[in-house]
Amino acid sequence: MPFVIAIDGPAASGKGTIARAISDHFGFHHLDTGLLYRATGAKGGDPVEAARSLTAEDLARPDLRSAEAGQAASRIAAIADVRAALVDFQHRFALREPGAVLDGRDIGTVICPQAPVKLYVVASDEVRAARRAQELNADPAEMLVQLRERDRRDSERAAAPLRPADDAVIIDTSNMDIDEAVATAIAAVERVR
Ligand code: C5P
Repeated sequence: MPFVIAIDGPAASGKGTIARAISDHFGFHHLDTGLLYRATGAKGGDPVEAARSLTAEDLARPDLRSAEAGQAASRIAAIADVRAALVDFQHRFALREPGAVLDGRDIGTVICPQAPVKLYVVASDEVRAARRAQELNADPAEMLVQLRERDRRDSERAAAPLRPADDAVIIDTSNMDIDEAVATAIAAVERVR
């Protein structure tokens, strides 16, 4: 079996940065699963149909990173049939040799519950809002409101809500720089590899 690293956490916690860095470090494939939901939301029309017919082109749209695309993603991500339509692609990706890193909201709990390494990355609301504001050149106060709304929607939904798996290693990046956060994640992987 290829090695799978599942990384979950709320928006702007640092999970994407950590996922990219550890996939580089171990030479594994990386899938940002948020992109699947962003592309589904951005496609418009019936979201279940959109999820079923996603193409590589849909995933390459330059506007997927915006705060609006994030909000639209979290709305359609609450629909169980949308999530079901995206499961196969994620399962196939997780089988890629020599290993795969998937980051999202439900990787450790629903998509890859057997993953030998599960990381749950968190940071304070204020730190996450400041990071996202810098990234998108936006107002931190406005980002804070948006992040909290998205976290609430992602945590309170019935279908695959955002929460750590029982055996996840929690990494709080509030007071860490990128190098420290990545080193902490690599150490957690090395412990079981
Ligand atoms: O991680 P990112 O901010 O790109 O995710 C956008 C939205 O997609 C999240 O707020 C969440 O609603 C949804 N998502 C999800 N499950 C995942 C990844 C993302 O529900 N595995």
